[in-house]
Amino acid sequence: MAAIFEATCTAPVNIAVVKYWGKRDTSLILPTNSSLSVTLSQDQLHSKTSIRASADFTTDRLWLNGIEESIEKNKRLVACLRETRALRATLEAENATLPKLAGLKIHICSENNFPTAAGLASSASGYACLVYTLSKLFELPLNASDLSVVARQGSGSACRSLFGGFVAWEMGEKADGSDSRAVQIAPETHWPDLQAMICVVSDEKKGTSSTEGMQLTVKTSALLQHRIKDVVPKRMDDMIAAIHAKDFPKFAELTMQDSNQFHAVCLDTYPPIFYMNDISRAIIRIITEYNKDGVKAAYTFDAGPNAVIYAPKENMAEIFSILSHYFPGAAFDDSLNLVKENP
Ligand code: PMV
Repeated sequence: MAAIFEATCTAPVNIAVVKYWGKRDTSLILPTNSSLSVTLSQDQLHSKTSIRASADFTTDRLWLNGIEESIEKNKRLVACLRETRALRATLEAENATLPKLAGLKIHICSENNFPTAAGLASSASGYACLVYTLSKLFELPLNASDLSVVARQGSGSACRSLFGGFVAWEMGEKADGSDSRAVQIAPETHWPDLQAMICVVSDEKKGTSSTEGMQLTVKTSALLQHRIKDVVPKRMDDMIAAIHAKDFPKFAELTMQDSNQFHAVCLDTYPPIFYMNDISRAIIRIITEYNKDGVKAAYTFDAGPNAVIYAPKENMAEIFSILSHYFPGAAFDDSLNLVKENP
């Protein structure tokens, strides 16, 4: 039996407070605007990936949550493999003593400990984990920002999950995508008082994938053009300033405005895309009422109906009990499971 080379890693979920929505290059995954997210702690939500390489393997194979899936049909996964193998091949060419891994077939096992494709950023943690684990297997001498350029080609938002804390994905300008990468704005220790609560409104697979949705938006929405030119550049600066100053009311206001605009852009898409449902909108009303005399919580929704609530630690118990009050009995079952999570 030939030697087996193996690596196993976990990667966290990130939830954007300035959303990425729209690609200017669909194969390299270059966005139409910069974005910014908070990486959640890995204690509750994470992807875990194990990769093995061996001369005994005859094909590349992939198991996602225990079920085998085709690698060839998944162009983005193929791109991440191609990029990391090319980097390994360069290392091997420079150093003849290294084991020859670049040419070996690999087996990948990846699982999420939360619903896949329900708007809970599973592609972000999944691709970040894939690329990070490949980099460990191939012993690539790359930093997190360099790896983010590869992870971006799996799923755009994945590039931000290579860092903890507060992370910007700079859209970049170059046609080859080399400057479209993630950078850390502040580490996870910067704002320990800030927490995130995930309200699982539905764990069903979303109707319109983010890939399909954003391309339709780019083609048809006039509001998107206003958003990317006139709104996001200043909002990125304001958000970075609010994070550095730990100014929660400002952070919250910008987060909610950006979530609202992202969903407005989805509605402006033709035909329109609806990601939020009645429970999502009820959560917006509850948080708006809760903030009447001062901003104490922020909601944000990705490409699905689930809410993420950001708030200072001291408000979380109150928010939890208010939401449980409005959704009695449903608060802990399959219509509204509340999971607490520390960023
Ligand atoms: O990376 P994707 O293709 O799953 O797109 C993610 C899009 C949003 O989650 C809605 C926004 C974001 O910035 O994460």
